[in-house]
Amino acid sequence: MLNSFLSRLSGDYLFRRTGELIREYEVSNPDKRILRLGIGDATLPLLPEICDAMSTAAVELSHYNCGYQDERGQLFLRESIASHYARLGVSLSPEEIFVSDGAKRDLGDLFDLFGDVTVVMQEPYYPPYLDNAIMRGLRYGFISANAENCFLPEPREVESYAPCVIILCSPNNPTGIAYPRELLERWVDFALSSGSHIIFDSAYGSFTTTGCPASIFEIGGARECAIEVSSLSKSAGFTGVRCGWSVIPHELESLSRMWSRRQGSRFNGLSYVTARGGEAALSEGCVEKLKLQRAVYLSGARAIRHGLDELGREYVGGIDSPYIWMKIPSGDSSWEYFRYLLEEKQVALTPGAGFGGEGYMRISAFGTGEMKNEE
Ligand code: MLT
Repeated sequence: MLNSFLSRLSGDYLFRRTGELIREYEVSNPDKRILRLGIGDATLPLLPEICDAMSTAAVELSHYNCGYQDERGQLFLRESIASHYARLGVSLSPEEIFVSDGAKRDLGDLFDLFGDVTVVMQEPYYPPYLDNAIMRGLRYGFISANAENCFLPEPREVESYAPCVIILCSPNNPTGIAYPRELLERWVDFALSSGSHIIFDSAYGSFTTTGCPASIFEIGGARECAIEVSSLSKSAGFTGVRCGWSVIPHELESLSRMWSRRQGSRFNGLSYVTARGGEAALSEGCVEKLKLQRAVYLSGARAIRHGLDELGREYVGGIDSPYIWMKIPSGDSSWEYFRYLLEEKQVALTPGAGFGGEGYMRISAFGTGEMKNEE
């Protein structure tokens, strides 16, 4: 018998589909150059310090075999992650940190912790949230983020689902909007008073420029109700190298124990070489350099915003994040508009429908790093 939940997933994964359409267009139009503002993939090279740390680690392995690594992740890497949080004013013990090969994996796997519960997510959403809820056969619900609520839904919108598991992502993928501190405080209060849990996706936290929290643990009370998932993919260019983590605070003792038990059976930790790269990325020496790297993507977002302003387009985002959420100016569906932009303008964006946000397109400024490389 096949897994009937898995067979409920419709079509291809969003970025596989857009990638295929872009490739097909390229093959039929080899003379055309495409401006890639679709997938949020790092385009600037990794810092030399990170590459040096990984090559040193690889050479070390020719002298001794590091063997199996801790399934929670190497202690040196968990200590580096704890130092990263300390720079945000958040105190964590390495025992509260569980390393993974990226946020995407944990965002699905963490659902293993929950039983008969509804997962509630903002719509538009990052597609793996919904896909993973479907694959696990969980009930799910949406809270709408739209122009009327400035794309910042309030906790009262999930009251009918509580107690539930609430997924929050800030700065948000796909809208690019960061949740202000007061709103996160209301979400934490709601989770505490309703017996709900928050899974906070902070993969884009390091891009915040307006003082919005980069971690849910900057909010009082979050340790009693929240798990945070994060990664180095966007903050340090690790999309192809893979290093992420989840934080389960000691206060959520049963969840932490269950996750530890699960990881023992499911995961053998991160590769030693990658872990040394992650440690370097999180070191004091790289902090400022990575800030400059992220500033390149944000300046790309600024240039795109100026262009959209000149064209009189409606959009949000692009300030605390390299993502911009743009209203489609015509009556086209987002897939029609995707094809129009690709075929007539040679620009690749991502259709809003793929995030449950028909009528919009997501523009990713990560592609502007590639242009910078060519300068
Ligand atoms: C994106 O939102 O572009 C993603 O990070 C790509 C992905 O996760 O597949």
